[in-house]
Amino acid sequence: MSWPCLSAMIHLCTGVGIEMSMTQIRTALQPAGDLEPARTHGDNTPRPIRSLRDWLDHLAARDRLVVVKPGIGLRFDLAAIAKRLDGLRATLFPRPGGHPIPVVSGLISDRGWMAEAMGVEPGEVLARFQEAARDPIPWRETASAPAHEVVHRHVDLERLLPLPTHNEHDGGPYVTAGLMITRNPRTGKQNVSIHRCQLHGANRLGVLLLPRHAHMFFEMAEQGGRPLEAAIVVGIDPLTLLASQAIAPIDVDELEIAGALHRRPLSVVKCLTSDLRVPADAEIVIEGRLLPGVREPEGPFGEFPQYYGERAERHVMEIDAVTHRKDSRTARTRSSTPSSAAVWSICCWERSRARRRCWRTCSDPFPTSATCISPAAACAAIISMSRFANAKRARPKTSCSAPLPGTTT
Ligand SMILES: Cc1cc2nc3c(=O)[nH]c(=O)nc-3n(C[C@H](O)[C@H](O)[C@H](O)COP(=O)(O)O)c2cc1C
Repeated sequence: MSWPCLSAMIHLCTGVGIEMSMTQIRTALQPAGDLEPARTHGDNTPRPIRSLRDWLDHLAARDRLVVVKPGIGLRFDLAAIAKRLDGLRATLFPRPGGHPIPVVSGLISDRGWMAEAMGVEPGEVLARFQEAARDPIPWRETASAPAHEVVHRHVDLERLLPLPTHNEHDGGPYVTAGLMITRNPRTGKQNVSIHRCQLHGANRLGVLLLPRHAHMFFEMAEQGGRPLEAAIVVGIDPLTLLASQAIAPIDVDELEIAGALHRRPLSVVKCLTSDLRVPADAEIVIEGRLLPGVREPEGPFGEFPQYYGERAERHVMEIDAVTHRKDSRTARTRSSTPSSAAVWSICCWERSRARRRCWRTCSDPFPTSATCISPAAACAAIISMSRFANAKRARPKTSCSAPLPGTTT
């Protein structure tokens, strides 16, 4: 790290009150017997990273995880700090807004970090991803799971989960990095995708469902007057997160691509209120249904290309249960900058290749996504989909004053 960069980091760390190491946090949260032995190898992992906790350990051991002082505000402050550190450090926010569940951000700020999580060299990331998409490994179901250690059937989302408000003109607090799992009502095959979800009420989320597989499943259900079962998985390992973005043909379950990236079947557990299967090691699972015939205003939301996505009538998910792990419960957030772009760029590259294959060989019904063309074209198209609702740059309000290299604020 260069000197100006380092000095800015020190300045910033003082400003936000970094208090303790990740190891101290984990020691406090877990019995000593549960802790894994410290890794002794180099930056690359000898095997893929298969849990969020292992990934946090990996980052902490390389001094890439910052733990800020407890109690950072959920409205703007948390997102501002996450954005300042994105690309440099992952950040853990204990007791955000006084909430018992911590938030982590910037988990995959760099393509090289993803290579480490995969256990391959940086130049091998794409080939490894393509290999996993080509040869998925079916998941393995378990009867009980850490994700079900604590169950809430009377749901008040704002009370249960630390939901940050990211940008000045956002429509409200959002779940921004949850994996939405749905099922094809005709075939029963699952799909995994990420969708921004706005808090609409104690047990209600507004969901941006662009026309891809989950949207298609919803239309099938809605045509029959039925809701579509959905589960949002928050707090998951980086490889399952990456797998969620694979542009696979319809009825390829991205959890099986995650299994291939893990080099062993992913453990899943049946949801408590539906037939969906979710990763057993997930930190938090939000179970519910996308409602037929219901649309409510969602947005605006400051998207990662730094523009607001417009407010419009969008799909609504009613929540039936929230489950989570007992200790070290961790919600995730995404900032509007490089970490989400890093996931995108790996996937978009793969998408452009997959699309060329699809044009020749398969009947995937969604050839309109601009992510088929190239990473650069993908970003441009996403901006145009947002239609510049406010024509105002989406910059989080910040309580930090230190300018960081590479940021434009
Ligand atoms: C950080 C992040 C946020 C995203 N937010 C949304 C969103 O709000 N709505 C949406 O339709 N797609 C969103 N996407 C894109 C979809 O998750 C992605 O296109 C996914 O591959 C779709 O899955 P499918 O091809 O299986 O349908 C997001 C992707 C990322 C990485």
